[in-house]
Amino acid sequence: MMVGRLLRTIGASALTIGLAACSDAPAPPAHLQVAGGEPERGRSLIRSYGCGTCHVVEGVRGARGTVGPPLVDYAGRKLLAGILPNTPRNLVPWLIDPVALDPQTGMPSVGLTEAEARHVAAYLYTLGAAPLQVYPNGPPLELRGREEPVLQAGDQPTGRPDRGDATPGQGRTER
Ligand code: HEC
Repeated sequence: MMVGRLLRTIGASALTIGLAACSDAPAPPAHLQVAGGEPERGRSLIRSYGCGTCHVVEGVRGARGTVGPPLVDYAGRKLLAGILPNTPRNLVPWLIDPVALDPQTGMPSVGLTEAEARHVAAYLYTLGAAPLQVYPNGPPLELRGREEPVLQAGDQPTGRPDRGDATPGQGRTER
């Protein structure tokens, strides 16, 4: 009795932890964010459209196809299908109608609507997104040298008085 309840409690908290981990997918960097795209919906669309018959898709169970390239670390991919910059602007139309972008491609249109393609693209851009987070969140860093006077045409740079570069008597000839 007691043991059964204890096991149920443990099971329930493991489930909660599991779910929390799921919704914690790293956000892609700004240039890979897809307007209107919800990654978790994208993941289930990938399953229901059967992308896994042709692709290995990271995070999608059973997606082990080897017809197309593996969709792994996709946020780090520079070229989409080897021909276009890998950005939401290109990926969303690609997912809707790959043949329109590359008549030679082996990927058929599988019938995604634009809204669905946005969800799928949002999911693909969570793959490998974590290492791309190089900038700290928060206000922009103070730029160095903001206090320096703007040089006029014909001026010589005067060094940085605040850092003592132009201290007289160092053999420098400033002006
Ligand atoms: C019939 C097989 C097939 C199906 C189904 C298929 N693909 Fe593809 N896919 C391919 C092939 C082949 C390529 C390589 C195309 C090329 O490089 O011209 C490709 C390329 C891609 C690329 C570009 C990869 C890269 O290297 O940048 C993405 C992204 C992609 N597919 C996503 C999907 C998604 C998402 C689905 C499901 C909605 C899907 N594919 C369904 C065969 C398929």
